[in-house]
Amino acid sequence: MSRAQRKIDHLRGAMNSGLSEHSGLEDIRFVHQSVSEVNTGDISLEAKVGELVFSSPVFINAMTGGGGDATEKINAALAEAAAELNIPVAVGSQMSAIKDPAERRSYEVVRKSNPNGLVFANVGSEASSAQAMECIDMLQADAIQIHLNVIQELVMPEGDRDFTGTLERIRLISEACSIPVIVKEVGFGMSRESAGLLYDAGAAVIDAGGFGGTNFSRIENERRKKQMTFFNDWGIPTACSVAEVASVDTDKPVFASGGIRSAMDIAKCLALGASAAGMAGQMLKWVEQGGTACVVENIRHVEEELKWIMTALGIKDVQSFLRVPVVISGHTYHWLAERGIK
Ligand code: FNR
Repeated sequence: MSRAQRKIDHLRGAMNSGLSEHSGLEDIRFVHQSVSEVNTGDISLEAKVGELVFSSPVFINAMTGGGGDATEKINAALAEAAAELNIPVAVGSQMSAIKDPAERRSYEVVRKSNPNGLVFANVGSEASSAQAMECIDMLQADAIQIHLNVIQELVMPEGDRDFTGTLERIRLISEACSIPVIVKEVGFGMSRESAGLLYDAGAAVIDAGGFGGTNFSRIENERRKKQMTFFNDWGIPTACSVAEVASVDTDKPVFASGGIRSAMDIAKCLALGASAAGMAGQMLKWVEQGGTACVVENIRHVEEELKWIMTALGIKDVQSFLRVPVVISGHTYHWLAERGIK
């Protein structure tokens, strides 16, 4: 199976996947406030993430590249939408462009279509710091994502089995980089123990990448003859994962992702301690449905709805989500109580 074919299989798998999982966000409820004192027109959606400033707390998370014309087209559509919306956009793993320079085009199109916006490079944790630098240069990237995908690799028949040296490589990349290093999960969630190790290794931001959205165990199992179904339900739901990472004693920003579909999902993640939220699978579905225009229309709607939620909560900036009271019930309450996280 070629790498390019695998990328196409992943895209098809993600597009066909429904929302059968629980991200835990259904357990979070805002406490309604009858007194608001906010004018929707005065609300700012600006989100500060370390030295980066996002025009709103939503970004297009890593998906693709390296699968020929099909992935180039998707990346161009996503990058054009990001440019129009002025939101950050990440590319999928650039390791294939390192191995085959002919694949660079499908990534470079993101910078070409979005010359002035925030663009995130993306590598796997097997990357050396020289390879990470090459990926940053390829896009003149503003930040680099390093993805951790142990479960996906294990379920993938041709996947990696040796994960030794991960923290050391992340440390070397962080030391060599002058831009923020974002370490991310891909839908199995990040624990506070892992987050602590990664912050210590130099991560500037952690993307919780929780369970509840795109499920790479299910996608990879569909490609296997003998399925490893026990990993299909494996992972930390997004709500729990955001709270886990936010509970690590550091001022470093947290991104939420994994099953983010709506303004309400984003609002709940911000209340749990995230600075911004990434969408991958949902963006792909919008691109498939109607290209750049569909992404732009839907994200504008999400941003408008976020302002209405903020009006109802009586807050004017996204940082204030941190002081908004929420009630946590069900599985998420139980998880956080067991883990001693407030
Ligand atoms: C991904 N994701 C991903 N992440 C990454 O860091 N590098 C990558 O190359 C890819 N590739 C990829 C392909 C496709 C088709 C999808 C849908 C996703 C993972 C993605 O960034 C995100 O972490 C998860 O998909 C969970 O978010 P959603 O999809 O539930 O919003």
